[in-house]
Amino acid sequence: MLTDKRILLIIGGGIAAYKSLELIRRLRDRGAWVTPILTRAGTEFVTPLSVSALAGEKVYTDLFDLTDEAEMGHIQLSRSADLIVVAPATADLMAKMAQGRADDLASTVLLATDTPVLIAPAMNVRMWDHPATRRNIATLRGDGVAVVGPNEGDMACGEYGPGRMSEPAEIISAIEGAMSEGPLTGRRILVTSGPTHEPIDPVRYIANRSSGAQGTAIARALVAMGAEVVFVTGPATAPRPEGAHVVEVETAGQMMEAVAGVLPVDAAIFAAAVADWRVTTASDSKIKKQDGKIPAMDFAENADILATVSQMATGRPGLVVGFAAETDDVVENATKKRARKGCDWIVANDVSPETGIMGGSENAIVLISDAGAESWPRMGKDEVAHRLASRIAEALG
Ligand code: CTP
Repeated sequence: MLTDKRILLIIGGGIAAYKSLELIRRLRDRGAWVTPILTRAGTEFVTPLSVSALAGEKVYTDLFDLTDEAEMGHIQLSRSADLIVVAPATADLMAKMAQGRADDLASTVLLATDTPVLIAPAMNVRMWDHPATRRNIATLRGDGVAVVGPNEGDMACGEYGPGRMSEPAEIISAIEGAMSEGPLTGRRILVTSGPTHEPIDPVRYIANRSSGAQGTAIARALVAMGAEVVFVTGPATAPRPEGAHVVEVETAGQMMEAVAGVLPVDAAIFAAAVADWRVTTASDSKIKKQDGKIPAMDFAENADILATVSQMATGRPGLVVGFAAETDDVVENATKKRARKGCDWIVANDVSPETGIMGGSENAIVLISDAGAESWPRMGKDEVAHRLASRIAEALG
């Protein structure tokens, strides 16, 4: 799929730079040509020799290197690729990109280019969470820069949290996604999926039934059409969609927070089965049996993520799609739900037990929009996903 594609790989100065060596090898295995640029800080973590040996090409480092300028000027370098990948994208490099600074070869190339850019951020968790970085990432996304990761986990600095650079295989998927031309190329789409778990104590929770299969199929179909997909999922059993940026959450509160962090997007698809309530009396330790006494639980209502996003005064996605699983009066209930939540479309399905749809591989959909109710024949979840993705592509134009 990447045969003869040209990737300009900018390696920033972070400990994750070692993963970029593996990334180069995997890109070469897939038939891509890799032209590497190493920032000055990057040379502190990997050597120009190992980078160029793996890439099989000269490594560019200095803006004012006359030999480089004679061979290939920085402007030409910035235009020579099908995609520019920045991995690791350090907090500093992202800040430079967001400000449009051009004080070294990497930042100059990024400012001079008209080629799509994908960044794989990598930094300490506090730096990632800092309001300055949040602003920078929002600016970059607004500028059309695609982002893969970062992942959550143990960090080289000894802390834990989001900030680890995505693994080479994930970056490859994102590269393939960014290069796949389709009707949704250049569009950024949010998909929520799976159930949420609301803890009662460390071993018990309340949840809705959801495998996440339909949300996953939708994310895959959108990726296949070239969209940059951010997939916010609760603890679902369905495998995660390749090529999407996956954000794992557990509770409705975390899902709301994750969704807020993903905006702005062109379209948002809310396929998650979010628990309507959380347990306010959740215990940090396991609740023990008490001589036949049933423990009392108090509940509070969770924020309605779909309604919140649908009713945003500024920055509302151009298209907001909600789901409705109904057991009775499907069209009537779903039509009311669409009005109540303020979304553009409702994808309604009949989940009454006799349909056998709940937990199955098929769905019978009624699409509720401004145009009224449109019934789709019963079909597989993948087919539903493709049909919906095509409709989304049409709506976004
Ligand atoms: N949803 C959401 N956040 C919530 C609850 C639901 O984003 N806290 C979204 C779901 O992802 C789905 C739609 O809203 O797109 C489903 O709504 P539903 O939970 O059925 O709506 P309710 O208002 O709870 O309707 P009902 O009266 O059927 O319970």
